[in-house]
Amino acid sequence: MLLRHVSITNTQSTNDCPETKTILSRPSPFPDNATMRELKDPNANTNGINGHIDTDHATSNMPDSSNAWSTSGSAAFDFRSDTVTSPTSSMLAATQHCTLLDDVFQEDQTTLSLESFIADLTGKETSLFVISGTMGNQLSVRTHLGGPPHSVIADARSHVLEWEAGGIASLSGAMPIPITPTNGHHITPADIETHTILSTDHHFAPTRLICLENTLGGTILPLKDCQEIAQWAHAQTPSIPLHLDGARLWEAVAAGAGSLKDYCACFDSVTMCFSKGLGAPIGSIICSTTTFINRARHLRKMLGGGLRQAGVITASARVSVDETFLGGKLSATHTRAREVADMWVTKGGKLAQPTETNMVWLDLSAINCSTEKLIEAGVKEGLKLLGGRVVVHYQVCDEAVKALGRVMDAILPTQSKEIGHVSDGVREKAKEVGDIDME
Ligand SMILES: Cc1ncc(COP(=O)(O)O)c(C=O)c1O
Repeated sequence: MLLRHVSITNTQSTNDCPETKTILSRPSPFPDNATMRELKDPNANTNGINGHIDTDHATSNMPDSSNAWSTSGSAAFDFRSDTVTSPTSSMLAATQHCTLLDDVFQEDQTTLSLESFIADLTGKETSLFVISGTMGNQLSVRTHLGGPPHSVIADARSHVLEWEAGGIASLSGAMPIPITPTNGHHITPADIETHTILSTDHHFAPTRLICLENTLGGTILPLKDCQEIAQWAHAQTPSIPLHLDGARLWEAVAAGAGSLKDYCACFDSVTMCFSKGLGAPIGSIICSTTTFINRARHLRKMLGGGLRQAGVITASARVSVDETFLGGKLSATHTRAREVADMWVTKGGKLAQPTETNMVWLDLSAINCSTEKLIEAGVKEGLKLLGGRVVVHYQVCDEAVKALGRVMDAILPTQSKEIGHVSDGVREKAKEVGDIDME
């Protein structure tokens, strides 16, 4: 059998629409004129890709068409989330070349090198790969905290409070304190100072952790506010640590809001995701001090999150940072998101929030449009939509954006096609319109 050491031309960042092309028109991942039959048939041409043949790795289940890694597939027409991004051929190639050692024994070089690479990028001592953003957040919260009575303060709209199945209460036994930003955009130092419980009165659950999120719903938490909050929190007695849900911190940095190092310096721990706008299939990372990460590693094991041959996952994560973040694809995504927002406003729509990174918030309530109506209009144009939140990622293609324009025409009433603008409101506002998934 053949092992395909594939060096496939990556078509995924070109914004071509894969579905509009036939398999034959794609750059072939196989050697000159080799057919799938030849690649599957051990008696046929056995020179393999780039001359590599590995009889230990069977590929008898190879699909009868170019494989799913060589195209962005349905992700090109999917505006529901950036989690839908499809892994690329270079991720497949990296996976084929990864080390296959045991990461619980901390022997897997691909994983160890990703962890030290991210520690360098963020300016933290070390880091720990985890399987999901939720695990990264919950593990970090648990690692920071001792035992009750205690409370954790966070934005009322944040993922860690709203979308992690109540993990702070069950896994850490802490009382969550949700804060609604007074400025309707982001949590400020004043918001934190007002709501943090500093009292030693035994009626209360003192605040032992502040969790912030950046970006939140695509909007940016300014670096200056993070710095001020950190300075204030660290000056308390006892000092209050800060955790950042930086699932999409990459986006804030790509938008020019500050460097990874400057943002991460404000926080005692940071979780970042590879599996959202960066396009990796799986995985997140926690960055912090060695002491913190040692404890998080211990708790990760307790939760069953210790991985064996982790390189098969972490190889793609590394490619996602190199190619999507460092490769500069996120800022192009932001430009495209602004184009989508402008298109909506030009057609007469209002925005529920400003477009600062890769998310566009269509104010559906302003035009009395239900989530269902939007989704249905999307289906007619071959698009996947979830609600007023339209997420642009680097694999969205030109044809999809044009189709989105037609969806807008279909749902916007004629009289509103005058002058659109950004209306007040935060994430709750969009949630009024429909119970949309904020993944
Ligand atoms: C801001 C934020 N944090 C954390 C997560 C959790 O990530 P995961 O789905 O990998 O658990 C998400 C998921 O979309 C998210 O949007």
